[in-house]
Amino acid sequence: MLYRAPRGTNDILPDEVARWQHLESTFRNIVELYGYQEIRTPIFESTDLFIRSSGDTSEIVEKQMYTFLDKGGRSISLKPEGTAPVIRACIEHKLLSQSSTSRLWYFTPIFRYERPQKGRYRQAHQCGLELLGAKDAMADVEVMRITYEFYQNLGIQDVEVRVNSIGRKETRNTYQAALLDHVSGWLKDQSDEQKARTDKNPLRLLDSKEPELIELLKEAPSILDHLEPESADHFDEVKQGLSDQGVPFVVDHSIVRGLDYYTDTVFEVISNQIGAQGALCGGGRYDDLVEQMGGPSTPAVGVAMGIERALIATQDIQPPVSSRLVVVIAATEDRSAIDQTLDLLRSGGIPCTSEFSNAPMKKQFKEADRLGARLAVVVGDDEIANGSLTVKDMISFEQKSLDTKDALAHIRKLLS
Ligand code: HAM
Repeated sequence: MLYRAPRGTNDILPDEVARWQHLESTFRNIVELYGYQEIRTPIFESTDLFIRSSGDTSEIVEKQMYTFLDKGGRSISLKPEGTAPVIRACIEHKLLSQSSTSRLWYFTPIFRYERPQKGRYRQAHQCGLELLGAKDAMADVEVMRITYEFYQNLGIQDVEVRVNSIGRKETRNTYQAALLDHVSGWLKDQSDEQKARTDKNPLRLLDSKEPELIELLKEAPSILDHLEPESADHFDEVKQGLSDQGVPFVVDHSIVRGLDYYTDTVFEVISNQIGAQGALCGGGRYDDLVEQMGGPSTPAVGVAMGIERALIATQDIQPPVSSRLVVVIAATEDRSAIDQTLDLLRSGGIPCTSEFSNAPMKKQFKEADRLGARLAVVVGDDEIANGSLTVKDMISFEQKSLDTKDALAHIRKLLS
């Protein structure tokens, strides 16, 4: 039987890794410029953590979690998102204080039992930011600005930042009543399941893909008309801040987000280059979550960006080639001379490899090419006799014979 990767998962093969690394280093460079520090949390957590944070009416908790009992009978879930584990870690290790802000970033795999399609997988990866301890609207702006700059730095031009405010609990209560009133005629003809779902969380109607409902919702009241004065002021400051800092955006009152922990600002960045799963990222403010999870009252805002979706959007952009690999080509039976050359290169911090057995030189060069080698170093009987090495540039094809004692410095220069 031939095994295959589980449905909805992907192997990341050596020739794709350069694009992942380029994306990761682009993200790391930008977040470090803004003073964020990395945090790493476990792949699995207690199931209760996600029910508590994402909400038991969220689609993730209702349908998508990979949940199992461990051998000790505890309910465990593979993490479906990165925010709740980060908050759990911050509370557990007392990283939060009333008077200071924490800026954290992470790369994480996430696991969601969804119907796989382009841009939607059962194991996907996110890079994320959480900015904890800042109530100021400029914190929301900072997170959105970093997100926007990340896509700009990757070369994804055609993006749209969509922003909304869903206010506080009070706002949502009054808004939900207005929304239910607007859809009441439609709802009475729906299945019991739909009615129950709507009853649990009416805001999820706004995420619907059903054409009849989408049409009906075009005339629905806007949540922005129901904001409390404090939330409305906060949203005005966010919009002003985005304009001042040159982040183009549109206000989209249909953005409500699928997780229950958001308050006030919510946003997504959409690309129309990546097919039906157009959301490159999603985020927002979640001022109640830390306290709800047992920590000190701490305002917070964050975002998570889908790595696979960013890679789809950049599939036509080649990352800069940065191979430093040197392949030593054996043109002699004397294996000890090959080993000495490899040792010399490695002692100088130069990554290198060579074939184990003496294949014809043409085949060795072909293999060096396949490995993406930047340089080849030929060691033959002539070179051994006169204490030299022949260095060949695999891009320009220029080659040069060098005294072995000078070779390291020359090779380093070529690789830099
Ligand atoms: P989310 O909107 O559920 O938010 O996910 C963020 C992004 O992860 C999505 O926009 C998408 O690009 C990517 N993503 C999610 N699920 C999949 C999937 N099945 N396959 C491929 N990509 C996927 C969150 O996860 C929140 N924790 C964001 C956040 C951080 N809010 C505050 N801080």
